[in-house]
Amino acid sequence: MRVALFQPDIAGNTGALIRLTACLGVPLEVIEPAGFLFTRRELARAALDYAPLAEIGRHADWDAFLETAPARIVLLTTGAATSYLDFAFAPGDVLLLGRESAGVPPAVHRRAEARIRVPMVAGARALNVVAAAAIVLGEALRQTGGYRAIEDVANGPGDGPGERE
Ligand SMILES: C[S@@+](CC[C@H](N)C(=O)[O-])C[C@H]1O[C@@H](n2cnc3c(N)ncnc32)[C@H](O)[C@@H]1O
Repeated sequence: MRVALFQPDIAGNTGALIRLTACLGVPLEVIEPAGFLFTRRELARAALDYAPLAEIGRHADWDAFLETAPARIVLLTTGAATSYLDFAFAPGDVLLLGRESAGVPPAVHRRAEARIRVPMVAGARALNVVAAAAIVLGEALRQTGGYRAIEDVANGPGDGPGERE
């Protein structure tokens, strides 16, 4: 299982995704160009102290990403007919997220082997990209046994209120 982020616009979202994927032991692929200065320093700031735990691949563009021969590309999009709750994930899936301002272009939409959505109430436009990722990644890992690969260690009392998030 991998998560891929298409041309992100907002450094804070990328940082939150780095943290999400790092905590769950899933590699993150960032497909550039990004809409912010994507330097090592900026990354470290956005990802707090989770960057060392993270496995991050950077790709100059969509074609460069495709050269990594991703297995099945599963696009998360509000335009999908299939709910993620009705989808059978596979361990090699790449969960592809669109950019905050514009999703993905039609060619990328067509290239995905599958398209899924998180159901929302009528009138809602879209979830925050990290919220969509967390919902779907959780289900994908549950279905494929991905959580079993995580060496889960309770953090103890240091996890409580007042600790640095
Ligand atoms: C803020 S949304 C993009 C909204 C953009 N204006 C558009 O028209 O696609 C950013 C990304 O989050 C994911 N996303 C947000 N809500 C979703 C939902 N309900 N189901 C599936 N993916 C969602 C998609 O990958 C989307 O490209």
